[in-house]
Amino acid sequence: MHRSHHCAQLTPADLGATVSLLGWVDSIRDHGGILFIDLRDRKGITQVMFDPNVHPALGAQAAQLKPESVVGVSGKVVTRPEGTVNASLPTGGIEVDATELTIHNLSDTPPFPLDDVGGDKVNEDLRLTYRYLDLRRPKMRKNLQVRHKAAKSIRDYFDSQEFIEVETPALFKSTPEGAREYLVPSRIHAGQFYALSQSPQQFKQILMVAGVEKYFQIARCFRDEDLRADRQMEFTQVDVEASFVTREDIYALFEGMLTKLWKDVLGTDIQTPFLRMPFHEAMNRFGVDKPDVRFGLELVDFTELFKTSGFKVFASTASGGGAIKAINAKGLADLTQGELKNLEEIAKSLGAKGLAFIKVEAGEWKSPIVKFFSEAEKAALTAQLGVADGDMIFFAAAPWEKACAILGRIRLEAAALLVKRGKMTIRHDDWKFLWVIDFPLMSHDEAENRYVATHHPFTAPVPEDAAYLDSDPKKVRGQHYDVVLNGMELGGGSIRIHQPALQKKVFEDVLKIPADVVESRFGYMLKAFTYGAPPHGGIAFGLDRMCALLCGTTSIRDVIAFPKTQKGQDLMAQSPTPVTAKQLKELHIAVVLPE
Ligand code: AMO
Ligand code: AMP
Repeated sequence: MHRSHHCAQLTPADLGATVSLLGWVDSIRDHGGILFIDLRDRKGITQVMFDPNVHPALGAQAAQLKPESVVGVSGKVVTRPEGTVNASLPTGGIEVDATELTIHNLSDTPPFPLDDVGGDKVNEDLRLTYRYLDLRRPKMRKNLQVRHKAAKSIRDYFDSQEFIEVETPALFKSTPEGAREYLVPSRIHAGQFYALSQSPQQFKQILMVAGVEKYFQIARCFRDEDLRADRQMEFTQVDVEASFVTREDIYALFEGMLTKLWKDVLGTDIQTPFLRMPFHEAMNRFGVDKPDVRFGLELVDFTELFKTSGFKVFASTASGGGAIKAINAKGLADLTQGELKNLEEIAKSLGAKGLAFIKVEAGEWKSPIVKFFSEAEKAALTAQLGVADGDMIFFAAAPWEKACAILGRIRLEAAALLVKRGKMTIRHDDWKFLWVIDFPLMSHDEAENRYVATHHPFTAPVPEDAAYLDSDPKKVRGQHYDVVLNGMELGGGSIRIHQPALQKKVFEDVLKIPADVVESRFGYMLKAFTYGAPPHGGIAFGLDRMCALLCGTTSIRDVIAFPKTQKGQDLMAQSPTPVTAKQLKELHIAVVLPE
């Protein structure tokens, strides 16, 4: 079990040395009876030669090997024969002439190729079923290393800023608001449940009351959400809270953390201070609260223009309080029927009544709706959208937020189509960070006809807006901020309410949570606040999302060692599973399966 070197170490400087290596057989080549094996460990690859003409017994032993077998090899470092030097490997100038082989374990043939290119082509479910093989691939190994490096950089940074890491419970209590929770039945307290912590939010605020002043934690969080490329049921937050801070302090603290992180992991300097964009501007220009500002195709507002239009769909929406928005997908007039149909489906899935368009070809506006447009309307569109030959214009007419959201999504789809055609480039390493600020504190939930907290109910109002809490909650901005990178929400946080009376008012009078519910869910927190709660605020970042961006992948599953599938399953260990009747009885649980 001894290695003198790892597999990325030996170079012509080691010629003549006797060495021993440990690792996996990456590949085997047979050149007229002489076997060449690429031996791989976590650092790299070294070529090993078994010559049966010189060592017949050894040759016979090596002939049993199959890829992915685990071996120990000893031998002498020699130069590679002329013409076989591999300049792309650090060890490409040498090979090890084996004199001894220990086979620790033979391997069955893996169900898929373990190189980056081959492995990327196979179905992800197969990779997840054999995750231990998938993680042997160089790319996946690198992702795990990046994640380790990122976590270390973050810990070092907060330590240098005199923050301390405090662990908080995963088994918490059920609280309303926020995502759906995972419940854990109590054996000792029949009929009662813990909830897995969605985030350490309440504990970190309590830690401020406890006088910790500067807290952080790389914390596991659990949310029963529908899974997507950037969502897992358990994920990791870089969670932070500090006392006596303003929004500016948090911006500076986090810009410092991200600057160090990008430098430590990628060696890249990022630009600070980050751009700051009010929520309204983000929605108006990009149609989303997490704008990707690496490219244009911005939304343009034509509500005023169309108020008196001959196109009744637009005129009635515009005069009825809605908005008319448009984007110019420059150069996308060659959109196929299928692609257009797909965009319409997407728009409809977001609640659009239709997706009006103008295709500009050979100086002609091809569209089912231009016949309704006046010359003045056409001139305004041409001027404000910079309409030229080859362009494709899309419109949404709907209530403001919906119109923005529809075109925000169409903007991203159009960009992807332009990239696919080579008409636009979007670089994954064009790091465009920004703070989105001035969110409304409350949003109105039409279905339930009540206000809900845009971020969470602990967010403090902007002081000058607090007066509208009673009269017009929509008007109140929250002291909430999100950090966005290239269209992904990396993190979010806020300055918190620290006055018990104001917190109670938000729960009961604005969010209309019954007083007894407030008492049972949040009573302990309100009580803590009556014993000297300092002003405080904080933020939480998705570590998984941050690592995905650092690794240049779009799926956080690629930076989580053992993620769940979109259906919430662990295909390797096979969970979830039924449990025994005895276990259920102990937990006082009866299972009622759906019909
Ligand atoms: P929030 O709910 O915005 O804030 O979460 C913070 C960040 O966590 C990441 N994130 C996720 N990552 C992967 N899978 C998920 N299911 C998932 N859900 C969230 C995102 C997000 O920006 N307690 C507050 C923070 C605060 O106010 O300090 C909170 O949890 O990157
Ligand atoms: P219609 O008058 O319903 O036939 O619509 C004419 C065109 O306008 C069609 O291409 C529709 O897809 C589109 N359209 C209809 N309603 C809307 C809307 N609210 N926003 C954007 N486009 C719409």
